[in-house]
Amino acid sequence: MKAKISIDTNKAISKIDDRIYSSFIEHLGRAVYGGIYEPGHETADDMGFRQDVMSLIKELKVPMVRYPGGNFVSGYNWEDGTGDKALRPKKMELAWNSIETNEVGIDEFQEWAKRAESDVMMAVNLGTRGADDARNIVEYCNSKTDTYYANKRRANGFEDPFCIKVWCLGNEMDGNWQIGTKRPVEYARLACETAKLMKMVDPSIELVACGSSGPFVETFGEWEETVLREAYEHLDYISLHSYYGNPDDNSQEYLGSAAIMDKFIRDVIEICDKVKAEKKSDKDINLSFDEWNVWFHSNEQDKKQEPWQIAPPLLEDMYNLEDSIVVGDLMITLLKHSDRVKIACLAQLVNVIAPIMTETGGGIWKQTIFYPFMYTSVNGRGTALDTVVESESFSEGKAENVSIVDAVAVISEDGNTVSLFAVNRKLGEDAELELSGFDGYRLQSHISMEGDDLKAGNSITAPDNVTPVTKEITDKVTLTGGSWNYLKFTK
Ligand code: AHR
Repeated sequence: MKAKISIDTNKAISKIDDRIYSSFIEHLGRAVYGGIYEPGHETADDMGFRQDVMSLIKELKVPMVRYPGGNFVSGYNWEDGTGDKALRPKKMELAWNSIETNEVGIDEFQEWAKRAESDVMMAVNLGTRGADDARNIVEYCNSKTDTYYANKRRANGFEDPFCIKVWCLGNEMDGNWQIGTKRPVEYARLACETAKLMKMVDPSIELVACGSSGPFVETFGEWEETVLREAYEHLDYISLHSYYGNPDDNSQEYLGSAAIMDKFIRDVIEICDKVKAEKKSDKDINLSFDEWNVWFHSNEQDKKQEPWQIAPPLLEDMYNLEDSIVVGDLMITLLKHSDRVKIACLAQLVNVIAPIMTETGGGIWKQTIFYPFMYTSVNGRGTALDTVVESESFSEGKAENVSIVDAVAVISEDGNTVSLFAVNRKLGEDAELELSGFDGYRLQSHISMEGDDLKAGNSITAPDNVTPVTKEITDKVTLTGGSWNYLKFTK
């Protein structure tokens, strides 16, 4: 099969906001305890943070990490994770039926983020709490005033404010699994009043309202419209969450997942712009795709977990080669919408549906999805170019009329490098590329995620079973059937 990819280095989609490469750490399973934090581990630093984990996170170049949830935040009292560790309460954690020791809270996490060369994206509890607690935590984290919560932060040893810029107004408040689920109008009113107070405390913050917890929930659309109509003036972003998977073991259908993400993004943009027009506003509401990934492998094993354990192994999906192709493809889709998707968080970062896995008390290894995320995050900085792809399509199950080849090109700030991220979604059918608009650039390297066994993955005992393939550079550029690719062109 042949496909054509055309760019014009003067025609851009948008400058990419680096925060499109953000991630997520929730108090869930072994993400925090046994993941980023394990005092006593041979690599632990003075605060108990694992340095082996930290160094892999730095390889991923994650600019911002969402915290502390997720479903967890909807039952969380943030004060429990501040101050003297010996006095912190151990609590029943209702989102994941676990025990939360509160050894780590915002005091520690903001310090961890600094050490990981990342910023914190903080979520407030709008499940069991509301506007009052939300404005208090903004004061605690960001205020320089001589007032109660800012002084509490100082008393806890932090003279300087944490300066947390981006805040989420709750999490998935439409979901019936959520602690404190809301009807659209209930959430819209609460989000509006909470946003108002939070910005009164710190007008420099940016706020993300909850969108729907996925494109297939009943209230999708109605939810976004209600929230935006009510709170438009106080908001900066609306969130999107979506997870993909191959539970029916149809790999060809699964490789079409990015088309579902693409439609979800286009639908949300349309709603934002409709409300903008109704309000005759000059302001765009941008998109924060703050939970996305593959998640399905661990569903059955999680049902067998005993409740009320501390840091049980939950959501520990073991990823394979096809998952890594899908993850790379989802990133291509995010970049193609980088004019409106300003924030995106790979959910999650360590142990919980994660690119990085640890053994508690032991070693560490990279999952297959680590690689496409790393290559895109490190090389996909600059400006996304309008990338025109001419390709045949395929249909399989829910994947209808999906382009076989898809791609996005990114030009570096100095113009010396063009990075092309491309996928061939058709199993068993190679695509020979015709490239147009790359004059003056030379293909320097081509790496891919591809292989004979789509189900192969990595583990602590076989950490390099699936790694990127370095392709030979010849006159012809070919994308193997069922592959994700990174091609680097330089002047
Ligand atoms: O990332 C795992 C969970 O998925 C989050 O806690 C929740 O927001 C979503 O349903």
